[in-house]
Amino acid sequence: MSYTPFKIPKNLLLGSATAATHIEGGEQEHNWYRWSELGNIKDGSHSKVACDHINRIESDVDLIKGINNETYRLGVEWSRIEPEEGKFSEEGIAIYRKEIKLLLANNIKPLVTLWHFSNPLWMEDDGAWVSPKSVQRFLSFSKYVVDQLGDLVEDWITLNEPNVYLTFGYFEGIWPPGNKGDLKGYFAAAKHFALAHLHAYEQIHEQLKSKGCKDPKVGVAHHLRIFDPANGSWLSKMAVNLISRLFQNIFLESMTKGKFLFPLRSGGFKATRAHYADFIGINYYSRDIIKGVLNPATLFGDRLLKENAPLNDLDWEIYPEGLYRICKQVYDKYQRPIFITENGTCDAADNFRTKFIYDHLKVLSKAINDGIDIQRYYHWTLLDNFEWAEGNSARFGLYHNNFETQERTLRKSGEFYANICEERLVSARMIEAFLK
Ligand code: BGC
Repeated sequence: MSYTPFKIPKNLLLGSATAATHIEGGEQEHNWYRWSELGNIKDGSHSKVACDHINRIESDVDLIKGINNETYRLGVEWSRIEPEEGKFSEEGIAIYRKEIKLLLANNIKPLVTLWHFSNPLWMEDDGAWVSPKSVQRFLSFSKYVVDQLGDLVEDWITLNEPNVYLTFGYFEGIWPPGNKGDLKGYFAAAKHFALAHLHAYEQIHEQLKSKGCKDPKVGVAHHLRIFDPANGSWLSKMAVNLISRLFQNIFLESMTKGKFLFPLRSGGFKATRAHYADFIGINYYSRDIIKGVLNPATLFGDRLLKENAPLNDLDWEIYPEGLYRICKQVYDKYQRPIFITENGTCDAADNFRTKFIYDHLKVLSKAINDGIDIQRYYHWTLLDNFEWAEGNSARFGLYHNNFETQERTLRKSGEFYANICEERLVSARMIEAFLK
């Protein structure tokens, strides 16, 4: 394989991403705390440990600075801010104010995610997102957070990957609340997520405008995959269409345009603007090859791996061209700016992350040079952390984390990314030093 130098396009901001439950730790009353208590994390780890970030904010901001990031995507923990319905914690929100001020003091632009898979137990135990109350609940939480932080933060992600949360929580049953094959729950909650975003989009804009913010940016982080048919049969093609629709298109279309595709219901919502996305957030990891089968339980498609494809530690295909294809599809369809809100890989031994970064940034640069308006790239993730049902042992970090001592060490791939962020290019020297 030959590597060639390339430049990072001028307007692409480079950064890294985390989310609250992944890194904070602590005895928080949320669905992941309980899921951990119930022994449902594969390697026995627990959300209360994570990276103990809550006690290490200053030194963790130094880590971000240490890799020359211009921007950083962080999340807030709903249960820390609203431990009881309608009762907000000043102490809870103060933690995020402090962290964001530190980021700004270091010239790092924050992008804040309001919801990333974690529900306070008072909400979880009252129907979570399947309950129609979830929409108002989210709006009230969002209002408080934006009121408190909106003088510091211009850029917001309302929701992270409702499709992944619903697939694992309501279809496969391996995430809380552990429902299997609950399509009724899946679609009811999908509708509430869409409504929550559409209303929050307007609400956040109004709030930020009244605070004098000139260029508010509000969007959703969507998990988008490539689905390719295993063969030319009508069944495989039909399965690809069905899976694409139910796993991604109903979310993209409703949350970007306010249009509800069948079988999603609109709950009476009527779009009044051309779009509800100042950017479309794309979390891109991998692709699935779909083979059509006569089995409604798998939506008529078996998910296979491409033969001989390179795989990461979790057996996900590494497919950089997919990032180009996804950006092109989304841009051609919606003509909205794109943020790559997550892209990264699970590689405990740091064997292939450097090449992963090289390949993905290269196709991204090509996409931008071809006219696709991609404005940000957030590498997932800053440091190894609590990776949901996989636990602490699935390692996606630019920094290695020792979960016993909480000592963080920059990986070689992290050093490579830090060099790219600093010099805004991949040079012949870097290729020599990191890729050969
Ligand atoms: C999620 C992250 C997760 C990453 C890697 C994304 O689907 O948003 O929370 O860590 O994938 O699994």
